[in-house]
Amino acid sequence: MQRKPLLCANWKMFRPPDGWDATDSPYRSQARADIVIFPTHLHITKCIKAKMLVGAQYGRPEPEGAFTGDVSMQMLKAQGCSYALCGHSERRQNHGETDIFIAEQIIAALEAGLHPILCIGETKEEYDKGKTQSILKRQLSPVSMINSLPAVLSSVVSIAYEPVWAIGSGINALPADIQNIHTFIRSLLPEQSQKSTRILYGGSVNELNASGFLAHEDIDGLLVGACSLEVEKFTEIMRSIS
Ligand code: 13P
Repeated sequence: MQRKPLLCANWKMFRPPDGWDATDSPYRSQARADIVIFPTHLHITKCIKAKMLVGAQYGRPEPEGAFTGDVSMQMLKAQGCSYALCGHSERRQNHGETDIFIAEQIIAALEAGLHPILCIGETKEEYDKGKTQSILKRQLSPVSMINSLPAVLSSVVSIAYEPVWAIGSGINALPADIQNIHTFIRSLLPEQSQKSTRILYGGSVNELNASGFLAHEDIDGLLVGACSLEVEKFTEIMRSIS
């Protein structure tokens, strides 16, 4: 099955870069690839008005309630978002997000009509101890929880494998190793969505290494942090999608 490449720009808690909304902006989605930007909540409306495909970096599962500082998946959909990151490692680390809470986020995102991207990845310590596979298996448990949903819903969940030790470190993993891990991840997915699920890589992706990742069969796209804030570098990354 041909999976459409998915290229994501996670702008984290940064302002949109100069020139992000130019006519020839690399952040605009294309026929050959879905290109999605994840701005701060404050910049979402601006990006939607500029006709970009926009995702939220985080959304709470409950539709509304006494949750100071939060916004819900439902509200994000109403605002015009199409995607939502669930369980980014910075949220797991800084906000104590658990696998159960992340499962609730995914279900709420699907119910709201958003395309969730489940972020998974081991820490340096876990990697050194050879625990990568067991950690990924545990972090993928939300997907088995949604296995009971109709196939059409489970196939709109994407996975982003981001080893924590590769994020913002300049130490990107080797594409061949990532291909092997993605094959392992795919084998753990519910059978009905194994072929259709897009599995992205993230962690120190740049304009020089992007094409090496994308050349592999099971690497269906990239989740880019720092380099997604530099228009010229992101343009090169976008061009590496063949
Ligand atoms: P970097 O590309 O800056 O390593 O960040 C990766 C990331 O966390 C994307 O979600």
